[in-house]
Parts: sequence; structure tokens; C-alpha cells
Amino acid sequence: MTIKILGIETSCDETALALVNIETNKKLIPEINILSDKIASQVELHASYGGVVPSLAAREHVKNIDILFKEIKKEVPGLEDKIDHIAITVGPGLMPALLVGVNFAKALSYKFQKPLLAVNHLEGHLFSSFLNNASLKKEELIFPALGLIVSGGHTELVLVHNFGNYEIIGETLDDAAGEAFDKVARLLDLGYPGGPVIEKFALRNSQPLIDLPRPMTKVDNYNFSFAGLKTAVLYKLANFKKDKKLVKINMAASFQKATIDTIIIKTKKALQEFNIKTLLTGGGVLANQALRDDLQELAQQENVSLLMPKKAFCGDNASMIALAGYLGKKQTTSWQNLTAYANLDLRK
Ligand code: KG4
Ligand code: ZN
Repeated sequence: MTIKILGIETSCDETALALVNIETNKKLIPEINILSDKIASQVELHASYGGVVPSLAAREHVKNIDILFKEIKKEVPGLEDKIDHIAITVGPGLMPALLVGVNFAKALSYKFQKPLLAVNHLEGHLFSSFLNNASLKKEELIFPALGLIVSGGHTELVLVHNFGNYEIIGETLDDAAGEAFDKVARLLDLGYPGGPVIEKFALRNSQPLIDLPRPMTKVDNYNFSFAGLKTAVLYKLANFKKDKKLVKINMAASFQKATIDTIIIKTKKALQEFNIKTLLTGGGVLANQALRDDLQELAQQENVSLLMPKKAFCGDNASMIALAGYLGKKQTTSWQNLTAYANLDLRK
């Protein structure tokens, strides 16, 4: 059987729509074919404010969502008849931004009489590596798998007992890792979003790294805390008076290493304690090559299979939302019952 799902994503600063074809055969992971995947990024708009402004994000989503829908309709003639379900991100995210997608999905559902799948954005990131299209062997996905989600809003370690069955074992107590990249980039005056620019600067470093903490790596739990790391960067910066550019390069490399080390230490501990054989990863920060390299090394050391999204699917996209709509095993819902949640637990 095949199912076609239209995915809609507007939780932050990307408006995204995608049509995904899912072959629901007996394989562990169905065959996934992305028929169309559209993203309108607002990064440039928010860059001048140093972060996402929710009301401006909502305004841009309103402007872009129709344009993207028309583009998909052009690429897939007879779209209305082809869609089986509409998968929509209902949270977590910025409420004004979420509501644009949710209302758009309600209208489509009403107009085309298609059932809705309410998707948790984090579940989308968790399954984004399955979009890579390589068919998985049985031994590559063994439950419970460990999920590592590292994005701008979340840093979570999750035991994935099965599709739709999650146990959060650790999360950030303050800033998420991506948020820390963004805040440190602001401290270094490098612009927004911070991740890509810090990565670029870090590559140019040839000086010894500045000593920074690896927060919460000595405690006996899986929680994270990156706010202190950002403050440590702030204090260290005050002591530097030499060439500004060199300091920025050196600090970018040192901060990146401290963040990645912290993520790796915690992930390693969880892999060992829960005897994990599969590590599922996702989220915007997974676009960072140094993190990807260290995760590969960790997976090899620990003899686990590592599922990592392609760089193009690390950030917010609608194909991952369409797929999570299917894999998350949620009941369909009607447009009357659909609503958005700024905070939404992965287990809901
Ligand atoms: O998953 P995402 O697109 O949005 C959320 O759901 O939050 O993640 C965005 C975050 C931003 O904080 C951004 O700075 C970070 O991902 N990011 C990176 C890189 N590319 C994006 N962080 C580190 N290195 C990168 N190359
Ligand atoms: Zn995201």
C-alpha cells in the first residue's frame, strides 16, 4: 500500500511544505519517496534582530505558506486527489508561528476532506535520518534505540522503545545546544544563526584551545546545561586584549569543542548504561561536521549503528514532519480538534 502525506511545518523561522510517498510494506522502515520538498527560510530577516522575532516569523509564514503550496501544486498536478493525510507540526514552537501552519492545515483539511495528523516537531527531528532513503537492515534499528535531539530549542536524550513510545532520560535545564551556539555567536559579534558561523570560524583555529567547562558531565544523570558555558565564554573574553579576530577564532573553536565534548560524554554514558545498539540523531546542530565526526567515532567505539540525517534534513523541514505523521502511530484528528502547543512533550 502507498500513502501520500502532505507535511506542514511553521514552528520557528522556516516555512516548509512537502509531499512524501510512503510504501507501507513489511520492512522495518517503509520506503520513502519525497515527491516535493519546499522551504522558505526567514534567517536573513531575523538576522538583523540577532534571533527569531515571533510576530515577524508569523507574518512571513502567512506570506510564504500559500506560495509554497502553489509551487507544490504545480509540481504535482491533481495534488488534492493524491493526498491521503495532512501532517502538521502542532508544537513545540513559537505560538504565533505554529498557529499559521495549524490554521492552514485546518483549512486544507476542511476543503479537501482529508484527515489530519498532529505531529510533535521533535518526533520529526528524531526520524529525519530515515529520509536518507537507504533501506535499513534489521540489525541497524534495534529497540530500545537512543535518540539524541540537538536543535535550537531542545537538547534531549530519549529512549525510543518503539515508534510512538518514548522515555525522556535527559534534557537541557536551561539553554539548548543550538541556542548556546547562537548566544555565543552574538557575544563574539558573528551574527545569526550562530551554528554555521561558529563552525566556519572554528575551522580556522590553529591556537591551543581555551579552557572551558564541560557542564554536567560529572553528575549522575543525563541532563544538560549550556547557559553556564556561555557565561564562561563571556568571562574569558573579558581577559583577552590581543588581536580580536584571532580571539574570535580561538573562542569559536574552544566553545564548539566544549559543547560537542559535553554531548558526546553524556551520549556515551547513556549508550553504555542502557546497552544501546542503535543511535538515532537529529536537529539543526547535527549539521555541524565536527559533531558528526565525533558521533561517528563514538558509534564505532561503542559498536552501535548510527543513524544521522543528511545535512539538508538536519534543520527544520516538512518531509520529516510527514514521515513522523506516519511513524509516530498517532490517530488522525479532525480540523475541529486541531490546536497548537508552545510546549509539547515528545511523549504526547
Ligand atoms: O532544528 P533547528 O533547525 O530548529 C529548531 O528546531 O530549533 O535548529 C536550529 C539550530 C540553531 O540554533 C543553529 O545555530 C543550529 O541549529 N545550527 C548549528 C549548525 N547549523 C545550524 N549548530 C552548530 N553547527 C552548525 N553547523
Ligand atoms: Zn527544529
